[in-house]
Amino acid sequence: MTTEIKPFKIRDVEINPPLVLSPMAGVTDVSFRRLLKRRGGVGLSVSEFISVEGLTRNNPKSKRQMRFYEDERPFAVQIFGGQPERMCMAAEMAQEVGADILDVNCGCPAPKVVKHGGGSGLLKDHCRLEQILKAIKKTITIPLTVKIRAGFYDHTINAVDTAKLAEDCGVEHIALHGRTKEQGYRGLANWDLVRQVKEVVRVPVSGSGDVTTIEGAFAKFRETGCDGVLIGRGAMANPWIFRQIEDAMHGRPIFEPTLSDKRAILHEYFDMLREDMPETPAINRMKQLAGQFTRGLQGGALFRTSIYHSHTVEEVLDRIEEYFEAIEAGRPYYGEAGAPIEPQINAEITDCNFFSS
Ligand SMILES: Cc1cc2nc3c(=O)[nH]c(=O)nc-3n(C[C@H](O)[C@H](O)[C@H](O)COP(=O)(O)O)c2cc1C
Repeated sequence: MTTEIKPFKIRDVEINPPLVLSPMAGVTDVSFRRLLKRRGGVGLSVSEFISVEGLTRNNPKSKRQMRFYEDERPFAVQIFGGQPERMCMAAEMAQEVGADILDVNCGCPAPKVVKHGGGSGLLKDHCRLEQILKAIKKTITIPLTVKIRAGFYDHTINAVDTAKLAEDCGVEHIALHGRTKEQGYRGLANWDLVRQVKEVVRVPVSGSGDVTTIEGAFAKFRETGCDGVLIGRGAMANPWIFRQIEDAMHGRPIFEPTLSDKRAILHEYFDMLREDMPETPAINRMKQLAGQFTRGLQGGALFRTSIYHSHTVEEVLDRIEEYFEAIEAGRPYYGEAGAPIEPQINAEITDCNFFSS
């Protein structure tokens, strides 16, 4: 495998290795980010997208979403909104809490975000995007970056123009998820657009979409010449993916988690969640991710079902122990007797269905 892949810089912030934990609302909170960072290989962590309306109106949830730990650096705060003044105020708040980078979300497809001109709405209103980026640029001194999609509609693909505009406004890194807003999560991300953007701008460019393996990541670097690769859903299924890609980059043996690593990560994550939030939301987060972490393992579907039916901390902990005891001993895992399989816990998670409410 090629070892061409090297760290890059967003001004003086080194992204090493050039692998980014992609922002995911409802997932990449402080617990998930630290869990992944501890596994190794994450070159940049990004917050969930944070509403500038919430931040600038002192909404406690939005403020909590900006929290991070020193061991997470380099750390980017991602904000979304459509009003230049609010965006500037929020950008300043992110700088004040010590974020290394301020990222503007230009990709969220949720109707309630787009309706107010934010998220992917900015892809079809370059005038507003320009106003916002120029205003933020004047307000903050930390690097400003954007995360964009291919375009708004399938027939208005404009990633290259959006990227050029962003660069002209002083943006210092462009991350591109190669799907349109209209496309949502259908089909595959168009990584050729990443290559095209990389060809026309001088600032570093990273690509996002569908990277779930070491080979996949290497192929994207090779085929597009991109500086960095973002991984989102792939990290939910395999929290060691960054570490594994980094191992491959350095020609080291690839780390393979054991069953006991997998059991331990579930406990570690649940402990972090319980420290950070009340019991019920912690259990709900656990339900969301425990299933992803055990994808592909024997009896994983039944384990997901049994976690889904747990309502207390003790029940969750018991189910984890029962499951791993069974599979470690090579016994089949039958789950909770008679528990029906809940279709939604096996459903694919996307930000389209996440925000559909
Ligand atoms: C549950 C979920 C939430 C997401 N939230 C955000 C977000 O807050 N900000 C953002 O820029 N992208 C968000 N995305 C998009 C991802 O960052 C990423 O670009 C996309 O999922 C494609 O990459 P992947 O195939 O590696 O997941 C979200 C995706 C998912 C699945």
